[in-house]
Amino acid sequence: MRRRDFVTSALVGALGSGLPRFTLAMSSADQAGRNKTHYKLTAELATGEIVPGQQTTIFGYNGQFPAPVIRARQGEVLRVEFHNKLTQATTIHWHGIRLPNAMDGVPGLTQAPIEPGERFVYEFTPPDAGTFWYHPHIHSIEQLGKGLVGALIVEEQQPQPYHDVIIGLKDWRLNPDGSYLPLSLPREAFRAGTLGTVATVNGQQQPTIDVPAGKVLRLRFLNMDNTRVFNLSLGKQPAQIIAIDGSPVAAPRTFDQFAAGAGMRLDLAVHSPNEIGKEIPVFDMKGRFGREIARLRTVDGATAPTPNHSIQALPTNPIAKPDLADAETLNFVFEWQGALSPSNRHGDVDHSFWLINRRAWEGEHGAGPLPEPLARLTLGKSYVVNLHNATPHHHPIHLHGLIFTVLQSDKRHITPYETDTILMEKNERAQIAFVADNPGKWMFHCHVIEHMKTGFMGYIEIS
Ligand code: C2O
Ligand code: CU
Repeated sequence: MRRRDFVTSALVGALGSGLPRFTLAMSSADQAGRNKTHYKLTAELATGEIVPGQQTTIFGYNGQFPAPVIRARQGEVLRVEFHNKLTQATTIHWHGIRLPNAMDGVPGLTQAPIEPGERFVYEFTPPDAGTFWYHPHIHSIEQLGKGLVGALIVEEQQPQPYHDVIIGLKDWRLNPDGSYLPLSLPREAFRAGTLGTVATVNGQQQPTIDVPAGKVLRLRFLNMDNTRVFNLSLGKQPAQIIAIDGSPVAAPRTFDQFAAGAGMRLDLAVHSPNEIGKEIPVFDMKGRFGREIARLRTVDGATAPTPNHSIQALPTNPIAKPDLADAETLNFVFEWQGALSPSNRHGDVDHSFWLINRRAWEGEHGAGPLPEPLARLTLGKSYVVNLHNATPHHHPIHLHGLIFTVLQSDKRHITPYETDTILMEKNERAQIAFVADNPGKWMFHCHVIEHMKTGFMGYIEIS
C-alpha cells in the first residue's frame, strides 16, 4: 500500500466552531479548551501489499496500513469513536498518554474487551505534546503483528518551526509470497523475541521519503514493531535529539545513534539541504555496519529556506517533578526462569517464563481473578524505583499512565530525561523516579510483545 493522506478517511471536525478541521494547523489558538478533535476508527480485516506484488491479509485500522495518523492538540479533547469489525475482541491503548485510567485500553484492568461488532468511545485530553502511538492490548502478538499499530501526534499549543516527517517502523513475519510465518517461535520468545522478515517504513520496504529542501525537519521515529531494537543512525548527517518517547529533552542533544526498543520513539531535528535531490540515508546499525531502512530526498521546499539557526528545545510538558528527598523507594527485579524447555509438557508456551519480582502474568486473565498489583502507591507521592534487569537480554520496560524520569544507570552515562519506556540492557541496573499523580491501575511491562505474553507484565495501583 502507498502512503496517502489518511486524514481524509477520518472524520475530523471542530465541534463548537462547526468548521471542518483536517489538520490541527488550521485550528486557532484562541479556541483552546473548546476544540474537540473527532476521529472515527475501525479495526477490520483488509488486504495489503506488504511484499510487492503479493497480497497479505492484515488487521487494519480503517482497513489501512499504515494506520491513520491521529493528530490531536495538547490540552484539547480527542474523541475517537471506535468500532471493532474484527472477529475477535480488541481494545485501543494510547501509548505514552497520561489519561484517565478508564481510557487506557487494557482489557480486564481498565475496561471490558471490545467484542466483535461492538463500539467504544475513547475521549480524553492529552496533557502532553509529542510523538505517541496507539495499539491494542489484547491478543497482542497477532493484532500488533498483523498491523494494528498507528501514530498519535499531539501538537504543541504553539506552532513549532518544523516540517513534520513521520517514520513508522514495523517488521512483518512473512514468506516471500506474502503469507504469514508463525508470528512467535517459542525458542525465540524466551530469548530476544521473534524478529520479522520484512522490514517496513511507513508501510513500504526501503522507501524514499520526500522532504522539503532548506527546512528544519522534525523526524518522528516510531518503533511500532513487536520485537526489534532499531539502532537508528543518519550516517554523517548532523541532527539533534529534541524528544525521547514523546517527552522533550531539556536541551537538544547531539545525535549519533539511538537504540529504540519496541514501543519507543525518537524526535530528531535536522536541517535539510537547500539543494533539491539530496539524499539522507536512515540506518539501523549492527555494530559498525548499517542496514539502510529508508532514505530522505529533498524536493522543492516551495518557500524560502529556513535560516540555519540553532535548534531550540521544544516547550516542556507539564510533568510534575519528583521530590527525591521525600520519595519512597520501590524495587523491581526482572528475571527469567532458566527453564530447559520454554513450553510445558502439553507443548503449550510457558506463560510464566519471564518474571517481575518473582511473579508472572500474561495480562489476559480472562475469567480468572485479577492478580494483586506489583505495588500500591499513594496518590501524589514521589517514588524512586530501582530497576534490575537480571536477564541476559534487553527489555524495553514501559509504564502506562505516567511519565518517569530516568536518573541513572550502572551501564551508561545518563543525563536525566523523561520517558514512558526505558530500554534496559542485559544485567543493567537503573533508577527512575516519578510522582504518582494519576490514580488507577497502570500496566508495567516489557514491550517485546512475546515477553509480555510470557509473563513479563504486571501493574501498579495508585490511589
Ligand atoms: Cu504500548 Cu502496554 O503498551
Ligand atoms: Cu522483554
